[in-house]
Amino acid sequence: MKMNVNRFSQGLVLVAAMAFITSCGKDSSKPGLEFMPDMYRSPSYETYAPNTMFDDSVSALVPVKGTMPRDYTFFNYPSTNEGYEAAGRDLANPFEKNQLNLDRGKYLYENFCMQCHGATGGGDGSLIATGKFPPPPSYITGVSSRGGNMRDLTPGKIFHTITYGINLMGSHASQLDPEERWKITMYVRDMMAAAEPAVAADNSEANTGAANN
Ligand code: HEC
Repeated sequence: MKMNVNRFSQGLVLVAAMAFITSCGKDSSKPGLEFMPDMYRSPSYETYAPNTMFDDSVSALVPVKGTMPRDYTFFNYPSTNEGYEAAGRDLANPFEKNQLNLDRGKYLYENFCMQCHGATGGGDGSLIATGKFPPPPSYITGVSSRGGNMRDLTPGKIFHTITYGINLMGSHASQLDPEERWKITMYVRDMMAAAEPAVAADNSEANTGAANN
């Protein structure tokens, strides 16, 4: 019996507490008493809110000229033929050629490039096999739409291509950070170098595929 009374009074306290918590403030659109309002209302400006501190009233400021975000990698070659040639001339792969980096490049290649370029770089990936997409030139026997044999492409040209894309191939810069792009470049160069020299008669089809874009 004693226990029941206790239970009852406990229940009463709970109901009263809930009523107190839920019933404060008549206007439900108002928050009522706020304990530590800074926790709810940020004192900083919202990104696109007007800002009375500046003449142009813009809150979303652009970075100060000459600065760059932490971990940002500078790539000062524009998405033009000149940028491509310059990158191809100036840049070397900053990563050491070793099995670990090649394995990483292979893994990324298989996830981002193989569906078009094929497992061995022949331009015969699964997407090409559907017949809905023109084949890229073979890494081994093809000719670049920008001139020269694919197998002679320098690391800088390949890095530039992954960064900006080329004709039908889109940019992969938003999916792969510079380190990943260099490791894929290493793997692609390795595929090119490992293959036997081109036999012209064997690759006429692969050559014409994308070169006419
Ligand atoms: C959607 C299919 C597709 C994907 C995915 C793709 N490529 Fe390509 N790639 C192409 C086509 C098509 C071309 C030929 C474009 C042209 O020159 O007209 C090409 C061209 C190239 C070239 C030659 C560029 C030159 O200098 O002529 C390289 C190198 C290359 N791709 C590397 C890659 C790498 C590395 C990846 C993965 C990060 C990749 N591609 C992903 C379709 C693709």
